[in-house]
Amino acid sequence: MSETRSLLIGSGTAAGPIVIENHRLARIMDTNDQWIRERSGIEQRYFVPRGVGASELGIQAANAALEDAGVAPSELDYIVCATMTPDHYFPGSGTLIQEGIGSPPVPALDIRQQCAGFAYGMQMVDALIRSGVAKTVLLVGCDVHSCLMPFSDESWDVLLGDEDRKLDGEDFEWNSRFRHLLVLFGDAAGAFVFRRHDQDDGRGIIGCELYGEGANSSILHVPGMGSKSSPIISKSQLESGDWVPYMEGRQVFKLAVTRMPEVTRSLLTSCDYELDDLELLIMHQANLRICEAAQKQLALPDEKVHNNIQRYGNTTSATLPLAFHEAREQGRVDEGDLVAFTALGAGLHWGAVLLRV
Ligand code: UT7
Repeated sequence: MSETRSLLIGSGTAAGPIVIENHRLARIMDTNDQWIRERSGIEQRYFVPRGVGASELGIQAANAALEDAGVAPSELDYIVCATMTPDHYFPGSGTLIQEGIGSPPVPALDIRQQCAGFAYGMQMVDALIRSGVAKTVLLVGCDVHSCLMPFSDESWDVLLGDEDRKLDGEDFEWNSRFRHLLVLFGDAAGAFVFRRHDQDDGRGIIGCELYGEGANSSILHVPGMGSKSSPIISKSQLESGDWVPYMEGRQVFKLAVTRMPEVTRSLLTSCDYELDDLELLIMHQANLRICEAAQKQLALPDEKVHNNIQRYGNTTSATLPLAFHEAREQGRVDEGDLVAFTALGAGLHWGAVLLRV
């Protein structure tokens, strides 16, 4: 008897239109191209123009994925949106994407598992499809991090301007305070379309293994702008920078290089596969050094790993579909290939998903 699976039938991506090379960031904070490349592997990232919300990128990626799948918006019967930077505090961006792609009203769910959001989303989609709730599902990961960058108008002008001049004074000091974080992130979106698949060919989502651990929530979080703050944002919080993410980089790094390989191995074993069976591993793109260390631990050759953080930076919920789609476009993934995805991020949330394309 055939088993119901969730088949990936299309993928698409979008990135902000403004290229921000490392040297531009060095105009407005105490950093430099060499430090950023050596410590993170990042060479550039993309930003959206100020005022563009995550749903706009999500809609672009969704439209591209629907076109790739040959699916009309009216055929969707569920939308899942993973983002930690929704357009508004509420509602989430799921319904904005539903409207933007021209889908009739369907359930539109927002999930917020930060860097592990797309992996959690794949498990959600698989559960919806296997349980018979939905047949054709759109999963979108979209994040606009530039909205969390504490830049003044002048900082933005210098960052984006044609003139290669350096900011000075208080603004430069202020931006430099967050430099370990600000150099890492970019704005992008990725989308997958899944469809119920009843043929016994082994294709589709095979398994998911996910974890959440509040004990490590404080190492990466936004201190203000939540229900613990009343009012949600005050003048003093704006001034103290409580709305900018707080990150203990070294601690997150250590957890990522141990847990991503660990969960990838564990999932493969529980699904009766070995590392050798994998054709491709797509890891969350937070730092090229994390990906290299994890690859080493798994003893995977370069041709079985695809990284693209060099050009996009960390795009949170968009990294997995962005890297997968690029690998597909480069002909590195074929129908029938076994692909593993793994991610770790704020929450702490982490996990892995196994998919036969
Ligand atoms: O998506 C999940 C979320 N995030 C992550 O996974 C991030 C994980 N962590 C990391 O990627 C790394 O820890 C960072 C890239 C954030 C930082 O690299 P690091 O090698 O851990 O550096 P560090 O924070 O220990 O800082 C080393 C030095 C310090 O100077 P001193 O104290 O040695 O004088 C920092 O002040 O580098 C300095 N530094 C910088 N210098 C130039 C920190 N950020 C910068 C910068 N430019 N942007």
